[in-house]
This record gives sequence, C-alpha cells and structure tokens, in this order.
Amino acid sequence: MPSEAIEALGYVGLEVSDLPAWTSFASDILGLQALPRADGSIDLRMDNYASRFRLHEGPADDLAYMGWEVADVAALEATAERLKASGHDVRVGGAELCEDRRVGGLIQFRDPEGNPHEAFFGPLQQTERPFVSPAGVRFKTGRQGLGHIVLRCRDKDAMLDFFCGVLGFRLSDHILAELIPGRPMELSFLRCNGRHHSLALAPLKSPKRIVHLMVEALSIDDVGRAHDRCLEQHIHLSFTLGRHSNDEMLSFYPVSPSGFDIEFGWGGLEVEDESWHVLTHRSISAWGHKFQLPPRRGER
Ligand code: FE2
Repeated sequence: MPSEAIEALGYVGLEVSDLPAWTSFASDILGLQALPRADGSIDLRMDNYASRFRLHEGPADDLAYMGWEVADVAALEATAERLKASGHDVRVGGAELCEDRRVGGLIQFRDPEGNPHEAFFGPLQQTERPFVSPAGVRFKTGRQGLGHIVLRCRDKDAMLDFFCGVLGFRLSDHILAELIPGRPMELSFLRCNGRHHSLALAPLKSPKRIVHLMVEALSIDDVGRAHDRCLEQHIHLSFTLGRHSNDEMLSFYPVSPSGFDIEFGWGGLEVEDESWHVLTHRSISAWGHKFQLPPRRGER
C-alpha cells in the first residue's frame, strides 16, 4: 500500500435530532463512552482516540461528515493533490477546525454524490484517560479504523471510480441479492486496510446518506450481551442476528434514534491484498439477518 494512501475510517460526525436519546443508545446499548463538550456536542469514544463518533444536535438525523485517516502531512498533501488533479474542490481545514476535530491537519472534499468527506492526520490520543466502556465492550479498531460505513448511491460506477481511482480504495467484492425482500440490488464493498470493507455502496433510494454504520466487538459474547440489551430495552432490530456471506461478520442491526441502522458485529474477515480475489456473492448472509419491518406506532 503506498504510504500516501487513505489508511482507515477514523471518525464520523452525525447530526441527530434527539441528542439525549442518542447518547443513551450509544452508551447503554452500544457500549461507547459518551463525553460532552462545551459546545453541547458529544464525543463517543471506543478506544484511545479522543473522538471516534461525534453527535451534533440538528434536524438531519444523518451523516454530518466522515474522516479518513492518512499517515502524515505528506500523505494529506498527496491526497489533496490527487483530488485537485481529478477536478475535485479541496478545502484545507484551518486551526479552529483541526482543534474541533482533534487532529493535526485535515482537508474537506465531496464525492460525486455530494457526501461530506474529510481526510486527516495526527488524531489526538488520550492514553492517559483510557477508554472505559459503560457496558464493558472492547472494540476492534487500531489499523482497521472504527468500523465501516455504508452509503446510499445513485451512480455506483461513478462512486467506484472516485474511491478506487482517486482515493486508492481496493474493491473487495459485490453482493447481488435482495437486501430487502423483493428489492434486488448489487452492493459493492471497498477496503483501505485489512478490514474487509471500511466503505460499502448501496444503490438505494433512501432519504438518508447513511445506510448503516458498523462497530466490531472483540468478543462474540459482547454481541450476545448487546443483543440482550436491545431485547430488554425494546430496541427494534432491522436485521436479526446472522453471519454475512462476504466479510463473515456475525452481527445484528439495531435501529438508531436517527432511523438508520447500526451493525453490531464480531469476527469480521481480514483481507490480505496479495491473495484476495474479487467475487460477486449471491446472498447477503450465510444464515440469519432476517429483515424486520419496524413496529407500527403504538405497537412494540
Ligand atoms: Fe455492514
């Protein structure tokens, strides 16, 4: 992998309409550590990084930005040059924005569908204040980043050209199947490190940019306990417990207070570039992951 390449999904900002509900979902259900800031936003920690998810109060209930980590300032400049050379606008983040994102430097840009991206280096680490999960969860992060994000898209070919051709992502595979019964579609999965995918593209006509966000626990028992917490708290599961066909993630999908799903998983595949070959899978899952309609108002 060239050293100037994007190395991981480092952080995600969300605009959420019900900040208290989201904070309690993130900490009590997912096991993230919620730390309020003076501006009213909430940092969610899952490891040594000072901020992995950030909750901003607002009406969108959707993605506010996603931050892709690069090695250093040279890698950030190389990324900016590649973006500019392919005709994309790049904004260099000033000191105030870097302080806000808790990074050494960053740029902002948009993909062909207008999704707000940032690339950054030098994330603030808080090793002197270790991450403490309120639910006792330990997450798989490190070089694999915080997990993965699935974005809706309208022109998948243009998006694949952008992420693979400009930003250096590698195609892991496709799934051609009915994600929701009666609605066949082809999803494409992209990686930027050993994690099978940090980004997936779903040709959905969803009103939201985010289809789902995935966090991965280090223990299968953490998945079981999170599943128990969802049942106890009557959190709707959009997809039941199951094992995915392509990245082998054992997971389930609680719906967040913003209406998009969080995939809570364990056991995701690690890809070695040298031996990997690209397949098209014909099913989403080896077992489970049954789609469930949300309960109607008044029902639970
Ligand atoms: Fe996923």
